[in-house]
Amino acid sequence: MIQRKLEVIYQPFDRTTRVPPGTTLFSAAHWIGLPIDSTCGGRGTCGKCKVRVIEGAAEVTTADHRLLRKEELDGGWRLSCQARIYEDMVCEVPQLLRVPKAATMGLGRLVILDPNVRKVYLELAEPTLEDQRSDVMRLGDALTAEGHDMAAGVAVLRTIPRVLRDSGFKVTAVLAGEQLVALEPGDTTDESFGVAFDVGTTTLVGTLMNLRTGMAAGVLSTLNGQAPFGADVISRISHGMNGPDSVLELQTAVVTTMNTILADLYEQTGVSPARTYEAVVVGNATMLHLLFGIDPSPLAVMPFTPAFMEPLLIAAREVGLDIHPNGFLQTLPALGAYVGADIVAGVLATSVVREDKLRVFVDVGTNGEIVLGSAQRALATAAPAGPAFEGSQIRCGMRATEGAIEGVQLGDTVELQVIGGDVRAMGICGSGLVDAVAQLLHVGLLDHSGRMKGAGDVPGHPLADRLIDVDGVRAFLLADGVFLTQRDVRELQFAKGSIATGIKVLMDILGVETKDLDQVLLGGSFGSYLNPESAKIIGLVPPVDLDKIIAVGNSAGEGAKIALLSYRERQVAFELPSRIEYVELSGRADFNDAFVSVLQFPHLELVG
Ligand code: FES
Repeated sequence: MIQRKLEVIYQPFDRTTRVPPGTTLFSAAHWIGLPIDSTCGGRGTCGKCKVRVIEGAAEVTTADHRLLRKEELDGGWRLSCQARIYEDMVCEVPQLLRVPKAATMGLGRLVILDPNVRKVYLELAEPTLEDQRSDVMRLGDALTAEGHDMAAGVAVLRTIPRVLRDSGFKVTAVLAGEQLVALEPGDTTDESFGVAFDVGTTTLVGTLMNLRTGMAAGVLSTLNGQAPFGADVISRISHGMNGPDSVLELQTAVVTTMNTILADLYEQTGVSPARTYEAVVVGNATMLHLLFGIDPSPLAVMPFTPAFMEPLLIAAREVGLDIHPNGFLQTLPALGAYVGADIVAGVLATSVVREDKLRVFVDVGTNGEIVLGSAQRALATAAPAGPAFEGSQIRCGMRATEGAIEGVQLGDTVELQVIGGDVRAMGICGSGLVDAVAQLLHVGLLDHSGRMKGAGDVPGHPLADRLIDVDGVRAFLLADGVFLTQRDVRELQFAKGSIATGIKVLMDILGVETKDLDQVLLGGSFGSYLNPESAKIIGLVPPVDLDKIIAVGNSAGEGAKIALLSYRERQVAFELPSRIEYVELSGRADFNDAFVSVLQFPHLELVG
């Protein structure tokens, strides 16, 4: 149940936003891209985020008392990161005194550099008989003076006395939030790194980020080491059902893959694991369960309950991730059992649900994860599509590797785009399949019910001789030994039908039509390769103008990078589950009707 939203107006910008009760003035401003000064990222320690409340009430908090003067409090000034919104409000934001450092992310978004990991160089007064404060107190006092709180665990405590004395009390404190990760001799503020991981069922992508500049130091991807246990999440879950040892096997496989990527990144960039303090990890619910060694089997059976959907913050050493020994691993939250942290990251990266534009974000894979909405209201669901888009259960299907047909153009002849360039076509991958079916519809060799024509039905058609019979089933010959059968077309039809149904159900709930959609965003690795026109011709996505269909690439990885570079954006990701309503498709009375209505291929004149 989504709560009633409250309105906040920020002056002098005259910017308005509507937020759920309890949101802070700081984070509501951040949602609409209005920068409020801060060096602590909203933790209530820097005192820089003050705003003046003009209308509405904001209680005075302990942090307000600590960091603001009495006259300021009397004048209505409050720390915006502590002031929660419980009624409609108007407030005044002071001009920024400095331009915040920002980085442009892959999708063209400007992200203010405000990482959770901060390094502070300190020149401490050495202890004397007159000043016998403990090392921790000395350090804590100096950090407080710089606007930072600090808590130190025993592992880092063990190192503090030696580092202080060896460095002449000139040290760099490394904080992840309030936690002291390390104390380093001298000034090391230039060297601060973190890693963003997108843990896919098939592929893992790791990006080593320079937290000072916001630039990627290196990026690598490799196949998930869990592959020998099955290609999809269901087979991984089935393996996990064999008992704790099997879950451990899967956990070890994924952590080993992550550490292999890290080792290669360290070697390639010269960055040391000791300077890599934090990892942000996204992935679907099964992948994150397995990463933490949690049995994912309840995800596979009704009523599909995950062990956790909340963001988790753990010591990286708990799973054996090879970053700084006191570093942290942070995951993003999930929206549902089958709309995981990877989708939340995608939503973060694309700003769907933070702007007024009505958009649908679709990540196409064995599940189609769909988020539809705008800043007003947003919905999410997962539609089971089966493995057709991955090239499985397709007679000549294969993964998107060398030799796979990834693009098809039909006219008087057959033109193929094969991965690897000038190599022999060995099969067809998901994007090639979507293209082939769209093109067969386009040249009239498939009718809109999905029935493939026989050679006798289309005398004189330039491609009639490509219509063949394979084991009693109609097929279209794409290349020597590679063909598309009538059954393959049906597999694709069911897969696209399921995703189109998910989109339709969400559009019906929201009460919107195709003409209302401002954009269709295709996410995930598959979405990047999909030809938008073909996606539209087969009816996978609503028939909007072609320029409104946008491939957004690896949006999950981008979202993980953004959460690594910006603590404020990380908070936005944490809030997304409370802003997006999750719709469970199974068991919905309208699912079957909607499925039947979108199963056929659209008439070409309708898709333009
Ligand atoms: S006190 Fe630092 S952002 Fe509010």
